[in-house]
Amino acid sequence: AQNERDSLFIVLGFAGKFFQDQLFENSEGKSIGLSYFKERGFNEAIIKKFELGYALDEWDGLLKAAKAKGHTEEMLLKAGLILKNEKNRVYDRFRARVVFPIHNVSGKTIAFGARTLRTDKKEPKYINSPETEVYHKSNVLYGIHQAKQAIRNEDMCYLVEGYTDVISLHLAGVENVVASSGTSLTKEQIQLISRYTKNITVLYDGDSAGIKASFRGINMILEHDLDVHAVVFPEGEDPDSFSKTMSSEAFKTYLKEQAQDFITFKTNILTDGGRDKDPSNKVKVIREVIESIALIPDGIKRSVYIKTCAGLLDIQEQVLITELNKLLIQQQ
Ligand code: CTP
Ligand code: MN
Ligand code: MN
Ligand code: MN
Ligand code: MN
Repeated sequence: AQNERDSLFIVLGFAGKFFQDQLFENSEGKSIGLSYFKERGFNEAIIKKFELGYALDEWDGLLKAAKAKGHTEEMLLKAGLILKNEKNRVYDRFRARVVFPIHNVSGKTIAFGARTLRTDKKEPKYINSPETEVYHKSNVLYGIHQAKQAIRNEDMCYLVEGYTDVISLHLAGVENVVASSGTSLTKEQIQLISRYTKNITVLYDGDSAGIKASFRGINMILEHDLDVHAVVFPEGEDPDSFSKTMSSEAFKTYLKEQAQDFITFKTNILTDGGRDKDPSNKVKVIREVIESIALIPDGIKRSVYIKTCAGLLDIQEQVLITELNKLLIQQQ
């Protein structure tokens, strides 16, 4: 019910404000949380822009404060902010972590992601809100509220994996960016972006998981008839870490100059930047690229990309068209 959604927004808003207060006003929050963000290069302006916070190393920090303000355990549970154990005792979900609020398009807080400060890998790096009445993970893009105007202005949206990638791009002066937040890209997320632009540039992490996810994401984007480019980052770097190795200007130039159309991107990765000249690998690359082209609904776009592919992979266009048509018939 609308009533219940409104109550959830209120308790989530309270929690967001509470975590922010802990970061700036509590001694543990300042010495642990705020120093952590500063070490990562986040200044106060960007911390406030993204409403970042800190959850104390306590079982009931939020619980107590929320109840004192009249919020009920029932609402805190429904908002995903507290958990209940076997003995029916309730306790805070987010503890001893820095907190990233997740907003809907209109800027209301609907969920949180929280990062551990421990380096021993004994617990998950991020803990996120569960699905709730107002948070459907697959429909949400982190940063959309802060990005939507810039996406319209630039007529392009950068797509990154993580919270800190979004924030570091803003720090570098790039505001048209959203994160799929680790989940594999969904149809709903692509439809959300397509309200603002038909152009996406994928900036996934420079590791095998990131490359795999970018291949899958590119195909999904093509299926929805959006235009897609991608940038490769050096092995082990993500947009956040890589941005820290150079000036903002150099980083922005890198993003512009390294953006490749999906055919060039896939070909480069699958041929090790053109170094792998093995014919049987080339056959695989061509098949892989044609499979992507076959997903594009628009026939004119398909024929343009077939031309690109023929040039890049040095193969007759007619051969590609024949193979493409076989795939198109199979799809029907
Ligand atoms: N993620 C998650 N749960 C995890 C790991 C990752 O929800 N246990 C999500 C987070 O949204 C995270 C994104 O997946 O931001 C990308 O994961 P990863 O690249 O591992 O983290 P980074 O964003 O690079 O985080 P950091 O720089 O703080 O290590
Ligand atoms: Mn719903
Ligand atoms: Mn990653
Ligand atoms: Mn990172
Ligand atoms: Mn990462």
